[in-house]
Amino acid sequence: MSNKSRKRLETIDIESPKPRSLEMNTGLSEAQRTEIAEGLKKVLADSYCLMLMSHNYHWNVKGMHFHTIHEMTEEHYTELFEAIDVIAERIRALGHLAPGTLSEFNDLTSINIPNSDLSEMEMVADLLEAHEAITRSLRNALAPADEAGDEATLDLITERLDFHEKTSWMFRSMLER
Ligand SMILES: [Fe+2]
Repeated sequence: MSNKSRKRLETIDIESPKPRSLEMNTGLSEAQRTEIAEGLKKVLADSYCLMLMSHNYHWNVKGMHFHTIHEMTEEHYTELFEAIDVIAERIRALGHLAPGTLSEFNDLTSINIPNSDLSEMEMVADLLEAHEAITRSLRNALAPADEAGDEATLDLITERLDFHEKTSWMFRSMLER
């Protein structure tokens, strides 16, 4: 934001007969918005880190299942790229800043750091663990949104849960005998 536009926002004196405020007044309290946003920040960090893991394994997978894993991970990092934007914008709509640096993501995430030199089935096991870790983060984020009646966040979480649970099922099936 330029200095000029910042100044304009801070001095919102529009000479209106009615007093105006930039305070959010959406029916969610500040405490509710903060709690929901904190949950979503973890989901955002996890999603970003899983996008990176999916890319890493897309590039580095070796073995009999190269094609399947290469294709699946491409589909997933493409999906996750769309999703992180939606999650970050929901955090902004709740009045919070979205984390957007690697160090913030690293501090927030519960996803393990990927290892480029794993065997193909270890990569699948890593991806399964990561999709399940996001599922847990999503479930943690669900309760405050539900209590506050924040339907927009609930819709978003429901959609993300469906993707990660379905993907977990597929990776688990590759590991089962
Ligand atoms: Fe590629």
